[in-house]
Amino acid sequence: MSANPLAASYSPIPQFDLAAQFAVIGGEIRDAVERVLASQQFILGREGAALEEEVARFCGVAHGVGVGSGTDALVLALRSCGVGVGDEVILPPFTFVATGSAVSALGAKPVFADINPTSYNIDAAQLARRTTPRTRAIVVVHLYGLAADMDPIMAFARGRNLPVVEDAAQAIGAGYKGRRTGSLGDVACFSFYPTKNLGACGDAGMIVTNSAQRAERLRILRNHGQTEKYVSSEPGWNGRLDEMQAAILRVKLRHLAEWQRARQAHAAEYTRHFAQIPGIMPPLVPEGYEHVFHQYTVRVEERDKLQRLLSEKKIGSAVYYPVPLHLQPLYAALGYKEGDFPHAEHAAQEVLSLPMFPELRPAQLTRVAEAVTEFVRH
Ligand SMILES: Cc1ncc(COP(=O)(O)O)c(C=O)c1O
Repeated sequence: MSANPLAASYSPIPQFDLAAQFAVIGGEIRDAVERVLASQQFILGREGAALEEEVARFCGVAHGVGVGSGTDALVLALRSCGVGVGDEVILPPFTFVATGSAVSALGAKPVFADINPTSYNIDAAQLARRTTPRTRAIVVVHLYGLAADMDPIMAFARGRNLPVVEDAAQAIGAGYKGRRTGSLGDVACFSFYPTKNLGACGDAGMIVTNSAQRAERLRILRNHGQTEKYVSSEPGWNGRLDEMQAAILRVKLRHLAEWQRARQAHAAEYTRHFAQIPGIMPPLVPEGYEHVFHQYTVRVEERDKLQRLLSEKKIGSAVYYPVPLHLQPLYAALGYKEGDFPHAEHAAQEVLSLPMFPELRPAQLTRVAEAVTEFVRH
């Protein structure tokens, strides 16, 4: 840290900072890596099995199946729902592209349903008009660390006998009416991409479910469809989680509650700054929800201008996501056009995620909040 307070006030503030976390827990991580090296067991060993149990328990579900990434988790979870060529899967257009490309990877067609403009999550009221006889599953995304409104979604899905997949990549630990993400649908997918609230030192992911039968099938699917060694009953591939990542994630899982509390405290402080400022919409946390603030995302009209100003002040920020899925070149052939999902499109133009990580310091937060406030006031 600089001895000169003026210099410190102009030092860059990143949007997220993994180095700050590693500075605190580096020793524990190194011990975990050493443990795996000493064991010389790298694939499907005790670290992975222990992590599966620990994450499942954390979510309040019976089974965890470690996989190579959040994308693997989505593809395999959808497969476990029977999604295949020619099927339709309903999902929100305002998400990371992986939610859609997992559907496409199976030869199925993504069918988008607009979001609620304040939660940024799929709007249950949109589901009926997007459902056809070919609909095979619904994917909800708990964006930014806030759970989707699951009760009406599950009621709709149960009525149509459709499985619900939670894309909880950004929302491990988020609460909804006393339950945690991962326990809210039929099967749920986590990403442990390094910048996630629980992040590995590489790619990793997990699927959780209460169904023993589904978990068993997922274990087979992630390992080349092998029901016994060198005997495969269906096509699969290598979607396994490795021991090194599992051991590292077990260390980080022990710190997760404390990190989530820090994120929530930062969010409360940001919101306190923005509460009375017309022109800034802070994230809204409905009654009965626990937001884990993977992102602290505000909405402002002149978003790009604000981002430029922050950048001039050496403050990092990010737009998640500038192009909704229905307008991605990837999905041009589906024939969607601008105006089809106005809430998603509007959000894509106005959202900005501010610096958010557990180790964010009060002085840094104040500098960010003051820069945003000053911009909106002028
Ligand atoms: C909402 C969402 N879904 C899916 C993914 C894919 O996860 P991964 O990068 O681990 O494949 C991510 C993150 O990258 C995500 O944010």
